[in-house]
Amino acid sequence: MNNLDIHIVGLGNLGSALLKGLKNLDNNLTFHLYEKEPKIIDFINSEFGIKSKTELEAIESGVLILCIKPKDLNNFIEMNKKKISENVLICTVLAGVETSYISKFVNNKIIRLMPNLSIKDNNGFIPYTKTYEEDYLSFETILNGLGIISEYEEELFHIITAIYGSGPAWYLELSSKIAEAATNLGLSKDDSNKIINELLKSLPAFANDEEFGDMVKKIKSPNGTTEAGLNSLMADSFDKIIFNAINSATERSIQISKEINNE
Ligand SMILES: NC(=O)c1ccc[n+]([C@@H]2O[C@H](COP(=O)([O-])OP(=O)(O)OC[C@H]3O[C@@H](n4cnc5c(N)ncnc54)[C@H](OP(=O)(O)O)[C@@H]3O)[C@@H](O)[C@H]2O)c1
Repeated sequence: MNNLDIHIVGLGNLGSALLKGLKNLDNNLTFHLYEKEPKIIDFINSEFGIKSKTELEAIESGVLILCIKPKDLNNFIEMNKKKISENVLICTVLAGVETSYISKFVNNKIIRLMPNLSIKDNNGFIPYTKTYEEDYLSFETILNGLGIISEYEEELFHIITAIYGSGPAWYLELSSKIAEAATNLGLSKDDSNKIINELLKSLPAFANDEEFGDMVKKIKSPNGTTEAGLNSLMADSFDKIIFNAINSATERSIQISKEINNE
């Protein structure tokens, strides 16, 4: 593959995960990094040996990956839109920000991703949508190196953001509550955390293409411990609690989109 310039703006949680995953690839990529926060600039320099700049210079070619918070987007566009050549592919991971919004300011091709932090170890999953047809700059081929990529209609991104972008938080919050319950029932905090950590690591062994309900059926036995716990979850409206959480996250994505559009 020909050398490709990759510009990453914002090296926080997601930007640094993306950088790590891309650095792991044996590709001909040249990185240009932009970050405001001094502590992150130092961390990135010590971890990856690349000095971040605080301001964008003119970008003639390659991919510009936006990993800033939605609230910082308008200021970024205002300050930088004239510095970005039309050949540059713009890649955005911003929750709630539609490609059509960015297209109001620039004529570039745009690809929108909704990954989570698992891309740092190259075993992520990347839902994406884009405003063009071909594999421009072979960027989708490169993304494939970070995990499985899958294209969706952009209108589905609010729900995808809620279940996948935010998804690790749902499982980690549940884990935190299970550990808390075990501690309240008499296990030490260290033992609870250790066991739940091991439980999380064991979960991939259960994930296959079966219906989730069918997988649960294989774990529970009639009148057993799992069934007792599941019955208690249902009696306490677990399904409603989860629906409300996913719905709130989806609604927040819709709201961010409206805020960005000043609606
Ligand atoms: N974290 C996730 O798992 C995840 C998953 C999917 C999508 N996302 C999306 O990824 C984006 C970033 O999330 P994050 O959790 O990585 O946020 P974050 O940790 O706050 O990182 C964003 C970084 O960008 C910096 N920044 C802001 N404006 C800049 C500019 N003009 N030039 C250079 N650097 C700038 C910020 O610095 P200051 O703080 O000094 O402003 C901050 O250090 C968000 O839009 C989010 O919706 C995140």
